[in-house]
Amino acid sequence: MGFPTIRLRRLRQNEALRSLVRETRLSPASLVYPLFVCPGEGVRREVRSMPGVFNLSVDEAVREARQAHSLGILSVILFGLPDKKDEMATGAWADDGIVQRAARALKRELPRLLVLGDVCLCEYMPHGHCGVVRASGPQSLGAAAAAPSSEDYEIVNDASLEILARTAVSLARAGVDVIAPSDMMDGRVGAIRKALDAAGLSHTPILSYAAKFASGFYGPFREAADSTPQFGDRRSYQMDGANLHEAMREMALDIEEGADILMVKPAMPYLDVIAAARERFDLPLAAYQVSGEYAMIEAAARNQWIDRERVLLEALVSIRRAGASIILTYYAKQAARLLG
Ligand code: PBG
Repeated sequence: MGFPTIRLRRLRQNEALRSLVRETRLSPASLVYPLFVCPGEGVRREVRSMPGVFNLSVDEAVREARQAHSLGILSVILFGLPDKKDEMATGAWADDGIVQRAARALKRELPRLLVLGDVCLCEYMPHGHCGVVRASGPQSLGAAAAAPSSEDYEIVNDASLEILARTAVSLARAGVDVIAPSDMMDGRVGAIRKALDAAGLSHTPILSYAAKFASGFYGPFREAADSTPQFGDRRSYQMDGANLHEAMREMALDIEEGADILMVKPAMPYLDVIAAARERFDLPLAAYQVSGEYAMIEAAARNQWIDRERVLLEALVSIRRAGASIILTYYAKQAARLLG
């Protein structure tokens, strides 16, 4: 049976019908709102490449989170801009680190807000890489600092795990509800799980940035988080964007190591990865609509080339439809307003 008996336009006649048969729904409860926390008080500094996104001091972060919460957003994820960077990434795991302070303040002021903590070292080390850097050439890195080539240094996997695990424990102790490692070192989920359990934090879940691709779409974030690598790039640890099967391996390994939630990142250029992961795994699945995805929509909208509200909802629905039930997005507040 086909046309003229079957007419798919019958169910598209008006908004009530369209709404009745809609397959994918967005809800503010599934959105996670990223916050960039910086030192100081009363600081609200707009990120040049992400208009509408700010570096916020702890007091301002609390204010921003309260507003988001009142719009129905239940979770935030914290990134930190420390006072100082050093080779030990002290700012990442110090008890009075910027994210630790923000987490304490948020849990005190908004106890029902879920606070996720991004775990990575790039914001906390001067070189801006996500793990510990060791010079591997004949020269020290200092001497080669002008423009070290990839032969001059390596990102040391296992030494990084120790610092990442220490960071995770410190964040959880400060009140972070969910630990979200984004560094892409091998074995970090297992190392973090072990350290959390040993610290009596066996109830703290891990949301793993399991399939995180080396991406040009992170450009604006690196300005927001002051985490641009000072030399080289992240291709020796983040995934090659061409590889879907490898993404499945990354996810399977993270499940074995104890991940509770899996994430794909970026979102829109990797919808097929989200869809494949949804088919294959039974864990809750998240996706990160990253800074570049936000910046592109925002730039076009500010030029009046596209309709911001339509496009941001369409982008979020596409991510949801691909299979992610949790979406990290800088548009969380706007989306919640539109959905509310
Ligand atoms: C830290 C981290 C990055 C993002 C989240 N965590 C940057 C990167 O890996 O370069 C990107 C988020 C975004 O672009 O919005 N490793």
